[in-house]
Amino acid sequence: MQALDYTNARILAPMVRIGTLPTRLMALEYGADLVYTPEVVDKSIAGAVRVVNEDNGTIDYLQNSVPVFRTHPIEKSKLVFQIGSANADLALEAALTVAQDVSTIDLNCGCPKRFSIHGGMGAALMEEPEKLCGILRKLVEHSGLPVTCKIRIFPDREKTLKLVKMIEATGIKALAVHCRYRDQRPREKGHWDRFKEIVEAVSIPVIANGDVWEYEHLSRLQELSGVTAVMFARRAEANVSIFRKEGPLPLMEVVKTYLRKCLETRNHHSNTKYVLMQMFVDNTKDPHYRHLVEAKNFRAVCKAIEMEPELDAWIESQKANGYPTDLDSVPRKQGLAASEEQKSKEQQQSRGKRKIEHDHEQGEDTTLDKPAAKKQIAEISVESGGGSGKEAQENFTLPSAGAEQVQEPTLVTSALASIS
Ligand SMILES: Cc1cc2nc3c(=O)[nH]c(=O)nc-3n(C[C@H](O)[C@H](O)[C@H](O)COP(=O)(O)O)c2cc1C
Repeated sequence: MQALDYTNARILAPMVRIGTLPTRLMALEYGADLVYTPEVVDKSIAGAVRVVNEDNGTIDYLQNSVPVFRTHPIEKSKLVFQIGSANADLALEAALTVAQDVSTIDLNCGCPKRFSIHGGMGAALMEEPEKLCGILRKLVEHSGLPVTCKIRIFPDREKTLKLVKMIEATGIKALAVHCRYRDQRPREKGHWDRFKEIVEAVSIPVIANGDVWEYEHLSRLQELSGVTAVMFARRAEANVSIFRKEGPLPLMEVVKTYLRKCLETRNHHSNTKYVLMQMFVDNTKDPHYRHLVEAKNFRAVCKAIEMEPELDAWIESQKANGYPTDLDSVPRKQGLAASEEQKSKEQQQSRGKRKIEHDHEQGEDTTLDKPAAKKQIAEISVESGGGSGKEAQENFTLPSAGAEQVQEPTLVTSALASIS
């Protein structure tokens, strides 16, 4: 259980809808040291079925045939999976579900959105430190992976320091601190002056988050407070090439590279369009943006960005290699995918039964709280940027028929292979 290396790291922050696979892969190619998944609520992922998608080499986690998380083996060594949870058993179940494809599990304790707070998750956990620490302890002791956590700060300094010390004592490996209070909006200035006292209070790496806009902010924040690493959210949302040490690339270059990455990973057009639109947030008069707003399918998105010829070339190459080209037809060959899922569920159930029997022999209490609602896809919370669980589900295409459980992916693009 090797902790990730946070020394001088520039990290892609967890961002619902933005931090899907194409964004994470681009961040890594541009130089990000680590990438976080968007927050995934425990019930959404717990018990999901892992399927290798032969069409694009990705690994898709399906709940009731709906993909809820897509990754690629190439990002595993740098990938932090963020969970939203208010229940230690469910959090653990979620972590164990994805454990083989990620390097670290992070608990979101900073989300101030109503959905999170209402469910006792996110920033609500900061008001219940015992519960927060109980979830972390369970993950630390049983997930088999390094565990981290992302918090906000309290206006009260002592209360913040007491909390971070309690959190550190659970055995987590790093702490990301978004330097705003729960009720502060993103446009309000973050409190960079609060990092130093937190760094001095704990001995684990502290990751600074909040208003980190420039590549050089890592050294500035290190001088100011001694933090180990920094985390970019909105700056990377607008232009993910911020991770390049040579400086960010022009917007249109990033936009086109992003669209290519979406083709490579068969990202669903609705998520593709959403992420692209956020990139134009400061350029809404740009004609590309206006065409994008109206795009209703992948071809229209490509047309808006003047990349239709590349789409046609991609379709031709997919045909030549025997891969499907129906990017927007969801679900694709659902019947067969569903039968794979059923087979795998049965295997999982019998594995789970055997494990519980075995654990009882060892005298451990492994009875997990599995409410009936677990089977449903829970809403995925959004700290900023909007989006429901249903939308998030729609952000993926289904894997093709016959995808094998344990088979290694067959299609890894040359661009992906450059991440090391
Ligand atoms: C679109 C969007 C989605 C976000 N989703 C998450 C999330 O899933 N989990 C989380 O902990 N924070 C989430 N955040 C908060 C960011 O990770 C970060 O803490 C916040 O934006 C402050 O950093 P910044 O000033 O660099 O933007 C999100 C922020 C944005 C803009």
